[in-house]
Amino acid sequence: MASRTITRRVRGIPTSDGAGVKLTRVIGQPTLDSLDPFLLLDEFGSDSANDYIAGFPDHPHRGFETVTYMLDGRMRHRDNHGNSGLLESGSVQWMTAGRGIVHSEMPEQEHGLMRGFQLWVNLAAKDKMIAPRYQDIAPGEIPSVEPVPGVTVRVVAGEQFGVTGPVSGIAIEPVYLDLALQPGASISVALPEGHSAFAYVFEGDTVHVGAELLGLRELAVLSNGDAIELAVPDAAPAARVLLVAGRPLNEQVARYGPFVMNTPEQIVQAMQDYQAGRF
Ligand code: FE2
Repeated sequence: MASRTITRRVRGIPTSDGAGVKLTRVIGQPTLDSLDPFLLLDEFGSDSANDYIAGFPDHPHRGFETVTYMLDGRMRHRDNHGNSGLLESGSVQWMTAGRGIVHSEMPEQEHGLMRGFQLWVNLAAKDKMIAPRYQDIAPGEIPSVEPVPGVTVRVVAGEQFGVTGPVSGIAIEPVYLDLALQPGASISVALPEGHSAFAYVFEGDTVHVGAELLGLRELAVLSNGDAIELAVPDAAPAARVLLVAGRPLNEQVARYGPFVMNTPEQIVQAMQDYQAGRF
């Protein structure tokens, strides 16, 4: 078994999006423009309503998927096709925007902690104009397993430790895991060879990735291999790690804000379609 190692370390940059939601952009910023097929990773987390209350009013998406993982808080989702849903603590929404949706993502709380991630996953050229699709996954539908003492894994996507995550039918065959490791605990996680993969520490202090240490709020781009070894040092606090992998598309990317296509002409078309109300 070839263990993956850290090839790059990236720290997110503070920014804001939507109507002024404060967040940290980890993928999709100058230091790490993308990690094919992943286009963007935002971490949001604040217990100050001013940082999130403005939310994300109506905005379009075409050509990719958005994956929202709510750790804490409540967010209401509504789109121009009449779909609506509430993302609660511990839930996941895997939205395939395909040929286009216009939606809003608004906090349904006026105080308290709002925390989570949004990941953007690219679609292959042949899938960019498919019909939009939602997978709204309630907290209880996400299996939680303890493969070894001191490690709990929530399996959002992928087949891991004898369970299969609820996200289905996604072309890049994603692995999406939330791992909680106690001090001194260690685990080996199988990851498909050839898939792009990253690990991001979002709670705790330091986590061993193989022989190296990864710090809090540090993202490790991983080398190729078929497994990753994670461990928390005995003296370090418990940690949580977001571990994600997906098959790269290796296609040309033309990107403009919420439109991700293959050519500049398709971007122009997307803008025209959006303005003409064809989403
Ligand atoms: Fe959105």
